Amino acid sequence: MKSKPADISGDISGLDKSALPLHIAVIMDGNGRWARKKLLNRVKGHEKGADTVRMVVRSCREIGISFLTLYAFSTENWQRSKAEVSALMVLLKKFLVSERQEMVVNNIRFNVIGEEERLPGNVQDEIQRTRDATKNNNGMNLNLALSYGARSEIVRAAKEIAAEVQTGSLSVDAITQETITRHLYTAHIPDPELLIRTSGEMRVSNFLLWQIAYSEIAVTDTLWPDFTRNELIQILKEYQGRDRRFGCV
Ligand code: FPP
Repeated sequence: MKSKPADISGDISGLDKSALPLHIAVIMDGNGRWARKKLLNRVKGHEKGADTVRMVVRSCREIGISFLTLYAFSTENWQRSKAEVSALMVLLKKFLVSERQEMVVNNIRFNVIGEEERLPGNVQDEIQRTRDATKNNNGMNLNLALSYGARSEIVRAAKEIAAEVQTGSLSVDAITQETITRHLYTAHIPDPELLIRTSGEMRVSNFLLWQIAYSEIAVTDTLWPDFTRNELIQILKEYQGRDRRFGCV
C-alpha cells in the first residue's frame, strides 16, 4: 500500500479546489501593535503590513480565489494623526505603482470600494491608472476598501434609491434586498463567504455590514504583519470543514 504523503502545512494541494470561497474579505489589523512590540514607529508596522498584503494577494491568486477585498483604510482612519494618514497614503501609492505590472501579468483586476474622492489626488491618479491597466483581466478581482465605512455606504445607497423614487423611476413597493445590493460599492461583487480578521479583535468594525450577513468569520490572534501564507491556508482548510446552513437546518 502506498503511504499517505505528509501533510505539509501551507501546501495548497491539501485544499479542496472545488470548495474554495469565491470571495474572501480581510480586516487587516495589528500593524500598530506589531510596531509597538518591537519599539518601532507605527509606520514601520504599516510598511511590514504592506509586505503581507503583497503575499496575501499572490497567495490568493495562486490558490484560485476569485475575489479578495482588503480593508486598507476606513472612514474612521481619517481621525488618526496627520503623519500616520500621510504615511498610509504614501504606502498606498507605492503599492499601486510597484504592484501594477504584477497585477497585469498575473491577470488580476483591480478596483476600489469607498469614498475614493476623499483620497489625495496623486493616490486617485494611481488608482485610475491601475484600474485602467487591469480592466480586461479576469483571473482574480482585488478590491481595496479605501476611506470605506459600511454605514456610509448604506446611507449613500439609501439616498440613491430615494432619488429614484423621487423622480418616479422606482416605486416604493419595488424596493427589495437586490435594490439595496445594487446600490452598494460591491454591486458587481458576490458577498464574501469568508471574513478573516487578524490581531484577535472580535469586531467587524463597520466593514461590509450588509454583505457579511452569512459570511463565515475567522479571527486569528496573529498581528497582520506576522500573518503568513501557511496561516491563510490553514484558515481555508478550517473553512472547508465548516457546515454552512444559511439559517436552515
Ligand atoms: C490596522 O492596523 C491597519 C490599518 C489601519 C491599515 C492597513 C494598512 C496596511 C496593511 C498597509 C498598507 C496597505 C496597502 C494596501 C499597501 P492598526 O494600525 O489599526 O493596528 P493596531 O490596532 O495594532 O494599532
